[in-house]
Amino acid sequence: MSPLHFPRISAEEAAAFIEDKQTVAFSGFTAAGSAKAIPRALARRAKELHAKGESYKLNVLTGASTGQLDDLLAEAEAVAWRAPYQSSRIMRKQINENKIEFTDMHLSHLPQAVLFGFLGPVDWAVIEAAEITKDGRVYLSTSIGASPTFLHCAEKVIIELNRYHSVRLSEMADVVMLPTPPHRNPIPIYEPLNKIGLPYALVDPKKIVAVIDNNEPDGMAPLHQPDEISRRIAHQVVDFLLDEQRAGRIPPEFLPLQAGVGNIANAVMSTLGDDPDIPPFLMFTEVFQDGLIDLMEQGHLLGASTCSLTVSDDNLQRIYNNMDFFTQRIVLRPQELSNNPGVIRRLGVIALNTALEFDLGGHSNSTHVCGTELMNGIGGSGDFTRNAYLSIFMAPSAIKDGKISTVVPMVTHPDHNEHSVQVLVTEHGLADLRGLGPREKSRAIIDKCAHPDYRDYLHRYLEGSPSGHISQNLRDAFQLHVSLLETGTMKFWE
Ligand code: COA
Repeated sequence: MSPLHFPRISAEEAAAFIEDKQTVAFSGFTAAGSAKAIPRALARRAKELHAKGESYKLNVLTGASTGQLDDLLAEAEAVAWRAPYQSSRIMRKQINENKIEFTDMHLSHLPQAVLFGFLGPVDWAVIEAAEITKDGRVYLSTSIGASPTFLHCAEKVIIELNRYHSVRLSEMADVVMLPTPPHRNPIPIYEPLNKIGLPYALVDPKKIVAVIDNNEPDGMAPLHQPDEISRRIAHQVVDFLLDEQRAGRIPPEFLPLQAGVGNIANAVMSTLGDDPDIPPFLMFTEVFQDGLIDLMEQGHLLGASTCSLTVSDDNLQRIYNNMDFFTQRIVLRPQELSNNPGVIRRLGVIALNTALEFDLGGHSNSTHVCGTELMNGIGGSGDFTRNAYLSIFMAPSAIKDGKISTVVPMVTHPDHNEHSVQVLVTEHGLADLRGLGPREKSRAIIDKCAHPDYRDYLHRYLEGSPSGHISQNLRDAFQLHVSLLETGTMKFWE
């Protein structure tokens, strides 16, 4: 397995190969498995070149968000174009100032878009690996993401060989590149833990320009303990799922769960684990977060299919110290499989995601504040929401001391429409929208989910709106948002 025959150079030397305006596809799906040393060196190179008055900006692809990669490259003003998702404050600001072009994509779509050249040629793949062999087997680290496709498509490849990671991660890996249409057979994943691929990705060894040695954790901080609002949302969700099970709409063995990023999703997962009436369950999800380790060790979570181990450094060590246990229970897949619409539909996944805001029609906005300011991107939320057996969106009913209601007449950027979204939840209640007509839906959303301070306004809006099949008042649909932008609060009546 020795990679010694590949040229070994420093990260600085590797960065010097990468030229202005080139497209670089980095490994990483969250901070997990993100390339580390070379982005750092690229940021330094960009700063040096900029100081000399030279242009240096890259087109950057990854699996999803990253660790420090986006922060460093954005801070060095080294990014011209970015896809498919990010969650960096510095990069977000530059995107919103139109200094970076950002293409917001469903994460399951990315590998196919890269493979067919929708996003242009990929000059470089910079991929973190736990091991690499002479014949081009690349054993990926804590995420698979889109790295198999990046390795396949890139003209040249640099490997960051990160000895921090356990080579036993390959026992979790299930790497497949789907055949191209129209030659796609059904994907034979019938249960979340079925494996259908190889424990490694493949690359033509002739494309490997160099290997960089590294020994560095992913650097993820632990999640905060859930706050009171998240806990209340979590209890609403768990009570609902139990009711669904009692009604026979969820089978006794339960259904696989997907949980989005962040603290609300984490709170839901731990509340599910604490509830003695919820049977041990499986997950088919895109990120495996900290709280799931306890659930797995306690036997509540039987297994998880995921794209990344998005866990803090301490928790990753817990996994590495107990690989006999975890390798039996976690499958790491590329994002076109972890988020595959067909498999999500087949398995009957229950999707739990967080929205910025949702509206009286049941549409949900995951990405753009007031319709203009990007937050992170759609990520995998669309892959799951559109195809799940049950699609649930959660949000606190109001934020910023009540100045912003997350229940609004009309969302300013519809990421998930009423045909996909079935259940909305805030700390005040849960609106089950299945089977309701538009006006029934709107009333349920106001009465169950809206913050009490906004209910009268929303009812007045609804009752005062011209009504066809749907009640909507185009003149006032964004009154709350306009007030927020002009006065800093949606409560224009105060
Ligand atoms: N209007 C304005 N700002 C809003 C808002 C609204 N309606 N709702 C939330 N925000 C702001 C918050 O104030 C916060 O900003 P701050 O950090 O400056 O205070 C920011 O958005 C993030 O909100 P937070 O409460 O920290 O929520 P979160 O971490 O649960 O993230 C999303 C919520 C929607 C941003 C996040 O879930 C996301 O990016 N979703 C899209 C991708 C996705 O769902 N991925 C998982 C699929 S597998």
